[in-house]
This record gives sequence, C-alpha cells and structure tokens, in this order.
Amino acid sequence: MNIENNNSCDIVIFGTKGDLAKRKLLPALYKLEKNKKIHQDTRIIGVGRAEWTKEEYSILVKESIKKFINEEIDKTVWKHMHARLYFCNINVNDICSFEKLKTVLKKKNNIIVYYCATPPHTFYPICKGLGSICLNTPPARIIIEKPLGTCLKTSKKINNQISKYFSESQIFRIDHYLGKEAILNLIALRFSNSFFFHNWNNKIIDHIQITVAEQVGIENRWNYFDNMGQMRDMVQNHLLQILTLLTISPPKDLTCENIQNEKIKILRALRPIHSKDIDVKTVRGQYISGYINNCPVPSYQQEKGANNNTETETFVAIRADIDNETWSGVPFYLRTGKRLPYKYSEVVISFKKMAFNLFSDADINLLPNQLIMRLEPEFNIKINFFNKKPGFNSEYHLNNSQLEWHACDKKNYSFSIDAYERLLLESMKGIQSLFVSRHEIEYAWNWIDPIVFSWKKNNNNHLQFYSAGTWGPEKSKYIINRDHRNWHMFDY
Ligand code: BG6
Repeated sequence: MNIENNNSCDIVIFGTKGDLAKRKLLPALYKLEKNKKIHQDTRIIGVGRAEWTKEEYSILVKESIKKFINEEIDKTVWKHMHARLYFCNINVNDICSFEKLKTVLKKKNNIIVYYCATPPHTFYPICKGLGSICLNTPPARIIIEKPLGTCLKTSKKINNQISKYFSESQIFRIDHYLGKEAILNLIALRFSNSFFFHNWNNKIIDHIQITVAEQVGIENRWNYFDNMGQMRDMVQNHLLQILTLLTISPPKDLTCENIQNEKIKILRALRPIHSKDIDVKTVRGQYISGYINNCPVPSYQQEKGANNNTETETFVAIRADIDNETWSGVPFYLRTGKRLPYKYSEVVISFKKMAFNLFSDADINLLPNQLIMRLEPEFNIKINFFNKKPGFNSEYHLNNSQLEWHACDKKNYSFSIDAYERLLLESMKGIQSLFVSRHEIEYAWNWIDPIVFSWKKNNNNHLQFYSAGTWGPEKSKYIINRDHRNWHMFDY
C-alpha cells in the first residue's frame, strides 16, 4: 500500500455541512482515499448541530463527493471511506457539548487534526471548547481558513484568541494557492536552475505581472464578499503569496521556518501605498451586467441578496514595489477580478530590453524577452526570444520565437492533485511549510490596510465600473501604460 502519511489521524471537521466541506474537503478526502494516501486507522469525524447518525452523515458525504468530483464513485473506495466516517453532534456555543467529542476521540489514540470549515467568529468558541476537554495539546493541530480578519486589528484578535489554546506550531492557516502544483513549482524553477536563479533580479528583469482572472461572480456569497471585496478576498492572501514566492531570496533550506522568514522579509519590504499615490498605483472596479460565454450575467449590485448601493470592489489592479537590493526599481503589476472573460492565472516576467540593437538594419524592434508562466487552468511555461530566420540572406532577419513546456498530463494523478488534497495530507503529516504563519498574515494586512482605508476615506470616488465579460475597467490599463508598459494579453 502506498501510504505516504504514516500517521493515523482523527480528522474532525467543524462545519461539515457547509459549502467548503462539501465542495472541497470531502471530495479531497475521497481522492486521497482512492489514491491510498490515508492511513488505514484514520477516521473522519463530522461535527455539527444536527442530531445525525453515521448513516445520515454518510448520505451527505456521498452526495457531496458525487456532486464535486468529475467521475463515478468507485464502490470499493467508498466502502473504505464509509468505514472511517463518524458524526458527532456539537453546538460550538455550548461548551458542555464538547464532552461528546471527547468520548469519540478517546476511543482511539490518533493524532487529532481539527478543521474549522466554519466562519471566523466560531474559531474562538471551538478552541475554547477543545481546551475545556483538554484535547488541544500537541500533537493535535488545528486548520483554519481565511478570512482571518478584515484588517490587521481583527486579524490579530483572531490569532490571539486561537493562540490561547494552540501554539503556533499547531496552527495550520490555509491559503489554498500554496497547495497548487504550479505555484509550488515557482520555488523549484527559481532555485534549481542556475539560468533562472542568476537572472532573477533588478539587473536583468524589467517588471513582473501577476494576473489572477476569475470568470465566476460571487456565487451566492454576497454577504461574505461584500464585507471583503477583491482586495481582501484575493490580494491580501493569494496574490501576495504568489508575489513572495516569486521574489524571496534563497532560503537556507526548505524548512517551513526558513521559507516563511524569507516571505516575511519581502512583505516587510513592500513599499506602502500612501493616499496621495492611490490613484496612480491602484485601480478598483465593480462589474456591471454583461455577457460571459454569450450568456447574460447580472451586475454585482443585482446579485442575489445584494444591496444596490454597495461600493465594494470586484476588481483590483495595483502597482507594487519592493524596496530591497534585489528588487528596487522593478515594478510589480498585480490584477485580479471577478466576471472576467476567462479563468486563468499567469505570471509574466519581462526582461530588460537589449541596450543596443545590433540588428536595427533588420528593421526589427527587439522586444524584451518574456518568461510566461501559466499557473492555471493549464500549467505551462513559455519563453519568448529571437532567432535568425533561416535563409541565404546576407543580412540578418529575425524571428520572434517561443519555447514552450507543458506540464499537463491529465492521466497522471500527480498533475491533477487538488490543492486541498495536498494540504490535508500535509496537515496529517504535521508539516507546516505549505501553510501561512501569523506574521505573514499580519505583514500582509499591514500593507493592504492603508490602501483599503484610503479608498474608503476618499468616499469611494475611485470606483470604476466594467462590464462583466471584459478585462476590467479601462483605467486598469493606465497604471501600467503610464510606465510605458502593457498588460500581457491573454492567449490560449
Ligand atoms: C477563494 C476566494 O479564496 O479563492 C474566492 O474566497 C475565489 O472568492 C477563490 O473565487 C479562487 O480560487 P481558485 O482556486 O478557484 O482560483
């Protein structure tokens, strides 16, 4: 049996009836089961207010898997998974009810992995309840999901509350982007190839673009999203994580502590964006109705449950700068938005132009070389460069060529691992490298807060509108065009 994870665990899922558990966690556990990655004695314990039997819980689990995996459920795999399932009725606000969980957990001596797939206001009562039954000590660990606050202050409050019951080495903060294959590859690409390693700095690189485009809207999460906006929902975590992985100095080794320390150095070196620069360095937008794949879609303000006076942004573009020896002078252009024409994530590294064009007679403008990394939905890397056009000509004619590498091999499980599968497995192993430390989160908020506050202070008069199905507000071009650069155009 191919069991990478030697620990037998009790995975306790708070909020097991919720969207995250149904859409991501239960299907991920099924896939891990299918790929024989889970220890035979591991149990999955759903927790909720319902008075459910195991069989009632199994129905929910099976239905969720059926709905969210793109394949038939395998009978044998399901049989194994079914045997692991338990349900425990707990009201997290009733501390006495945690005794029932204690009874279930004490039956085995497994390592306990608590997963809070619940809103942040429940983290504290959950931790307190676990503390009351003394099941919060190592090796038990707790996984928490964003949003970890809506600003530095609220984030600190949540972290302080959790840290009363769990130490930092027990807290696994998920940013699911850190479980994605192509994002993990950034470390491998940068630090295992001298070609990339030595050219990864402000002497060689002109600028870097990071685009995370989403086609979806807010998917019935209006209350959550309207309180956050794209800046806090996507930039504070996912985009800044990509940015740090692209820019960290080589860590001493690949331990969690050393990687996280390097990421913190970058977050601390991010140049603050003051309100006087807000209009030249940031653009925020909100979608109005439009068409996606030729189908009409409503505006943000017409989404289910919406308040039609809202000023919340669904699109952000930012120019960021890192003030350190390696990156000073290299602008980073970040953009992300909902209801854009396609879902894709991409990093474009633009190298500096040749200082002198030896081939000017060839009537060609030597465009800068680019390294284009498509992170999703495909995983590929392209490099643009010039070649001589073959032929007898005595002068040089040049071709703009492209080297391409494609990772996708759909038949290979390793290429199709969902981020949650990887992160769940890592948490069972007790390895924190792919999780986010408290300091990372807090330094990220420290950079984000002044931007959001400036937007608010100026009575939101910066908000730009864009039609759903377009690449965001026209003004998002301005923050890059004013530096005489362009957004890299989407291509397949
Ligand atoms: C989540 C955000 O963290 O990431 C969502 O809350 C967003 O709003 C999602 O849609 C995007 O994740 P992915 O993996 O689909 O790019």
